[in-house]
Amino acid sequence: MCGIVGAIAERDVTHILLEGLKRLEYRGYDSAGMAVVSSTSGIERIRSLGKVKELENLLNDENFTGSTGIAHTRWATHGKPSEQNAHPHVCNERVALVHNGTIENHEQLRANQENQFKFTSETDTEVIVHQVCSYLDSGKSLFEAVLAASKDLVGAYALGVVSRDNPDILLAACYGSPLVIGVGVGEYFIASDISALIPVTQQYIVLEDGDIAEITRQSLQIIDKDGKTVDRPIKISELSVESIGRGKYKHYMLKEIYEQPSSISQTLEGRIHNNLLIEETFGINAAEIFDKVKNVQIIACGTSYHAGLIAKYWFESIAGIRCNVEVASEFRYRDPVVIEDSLIVTISQSGETSDTIAALNEAKRLGFGKSLAVCNVPESSLVRNSDLVLMTRAGPEIGVASTKAFTTQLVALMQLVLVIGRRYKVTDSIESEILGHLKSLPRVLEEVLKLDSEIEALAEDFNDKHHALFLGRGSQYPVAMEGALKLKEISYIHAEAYPAGELKHGPLALVDESMPVIAVAPNNELMGKLKTNLHEVKARGGVLYVFADESMLIESEDNMKVIPIIAVHNSIAPIVYTVPLQLLSYYVARLKGTDIDQPRNLAKSVTVE
Ligand code: M6R
Repeated sequence: MCGIVGAIAERDVTHILLEGLKRLEYRGYDSAGMAVVSSTSGIERIRSLGKVKELENLLNDENFTGSTGIAHTRWATHGKPSEQNAHPHVCNERVALVHNGTIENHEQLRANQENQFKFTSETDTEVIVHQVCSYLDSGKSLFEAVLAASKDLVGAYALGVVSRDNPDILLAACYGSPLVIGVGVGEYFIASDISALIPVTQQYIVLEDGDIAEITRQSLQIIDKDGKTVDRPIKISELSVESIGRGKYKHYMLKEIYEQPSSISQTLEGRIHNNLLIEETFGINAAEIFDKVKNVQIIACGTSYHAGLIAKYWFESIAGIRCNVEVASEFRYRDPVVIEDSLIVTISQSGETSDTIAALNEAKRLGFGKSLAVCNVPESSLVRNSDLVLMTRAGPEIGVASTKAFTTQLVALMQLVLVIGRRYKVTDSIESEILGHLKSLPRVLEEVLKLDSEIEALAEDFNDKHHALFLGRGSQYPVAMEGALKLKEISYIHAEAYPAGELKHGPLALVDESMPVIAVAPNNELMGKLKTNLHEVKARGGVLYVFADESMLIESEDNMKVIPIIAVHNSIAPIVYTVPLQLLSYYVARLKGTDIDQPRNLAKSVTVE
């Protein structure tokens, strides 16, 4: 989704802005732009359709410098991707503005403004810059104008604003869309995501909903939604330039697949004592909240939703507590029957997914109960709005396709299953046994990653395919769903997942030699039934690729390739079988030459509805 960077310094900031935009590329975008302001040249702006590289070329061609500026990567919501729709938007060469979020009342504001201002884009954003301009025309200061304009907006916004008449001021404001202020020495920065600022500072301030900040080189003043001057704490980011680099890997996705053993170690780190979980690590009042929980309501989107589906199997079979899982965009708009004393569990890599945040608010409003966020970003909106937090500690995930975020979510969720399960079916011996399996994961996954070249070779079979079916049973069904999502997301091959038992209820009609069928087959009580399903596919001329527990000694045969997977306990099998499917998608996409880290039309964190 869109990204914002801004800076005010004594030095030229254009390269800081450009570098910041490059660091935000992972979020997904279709165009980019930058504006600088000075007392001599006023507002200057460059914009380009396509990659930040195009903007960089423009920057190199023109003598474009300035010490106060704003920049943006746009992911189209209102109006097609084009240079004209790219930010910054400018009003009367007087104000330039970048915006993340969506403005719901933009049509109404546009209708009011059309007599006064000439519109040059189809965006919802342009009404904001005109609104600021009209308040400036009425004699307000830049700060007052942005404050007044923000009160007219319905929707979500993070804003960076500069003005010709105040070249030494950078204005920042946000509501429902994150924005941070980076603190330097004699300079400040703004960004929608601290990772954009890491080369220039690790100190940052998180703006809260309704905050407006007036920033000069030497001063920072923040006014909250009630108009009071506030001091927001300065935090130190744990990110480093190295942690957000690609290292020796060709793509972030591959790097992140390979990071899973160490990420999972981090998810477990410091949370286990004497082979049992330390309940206080879930929050100071966690025990009191968990004692009351009678139902678990999981809400999430995409890959995080798949993690929730797996957790449902675990909550019900291991913990013995009822659990519902729902896609956030559905939950937020239906009338669910409220189950009081539920724990609302949101799962999100970014913690900024708009649907998940809205669904959480809705669940709270309806009275489901207390909330817990399973999340990877400590400062995210979801974390800030939840009663309890369980950080996944996967480290920055840059590739749009979620990999290590998913497996660490599963490890975190299993921890939650165990502590809540203590109040139900989980005994100390069950808990320590499962924790033992979780602790074995880094070693087990290192073994699975050794399949890399075998899977790379297998990917050749998919290069000319247009469709694929993924099959699993039990807690492996969501693993199949996740495998299908990964394949379609980065290779653009149409892929569907089915619980294997559903095959003969319809999808079997699709099976022929052009439809590869991928099955995940750990050694569990459903194996016999899964084998029957695989025979059904073979009998119809389907070509099978089976990731199977090596201890079952299933051999490859005509039209069935078996990829043996290290034998593991059923409790961790969903985590283990996910990894070869990630590698398969990655290598198929690589053969197809797609933009693996930034697949077309997609954004890393979906901050609009
Ligand atoms: O940041 P979140 O986990 O809330 O994001 C949810 C989905 O947008 C995300 O998982 C998406 O499905 C991924 N691109 C899948 O790889």
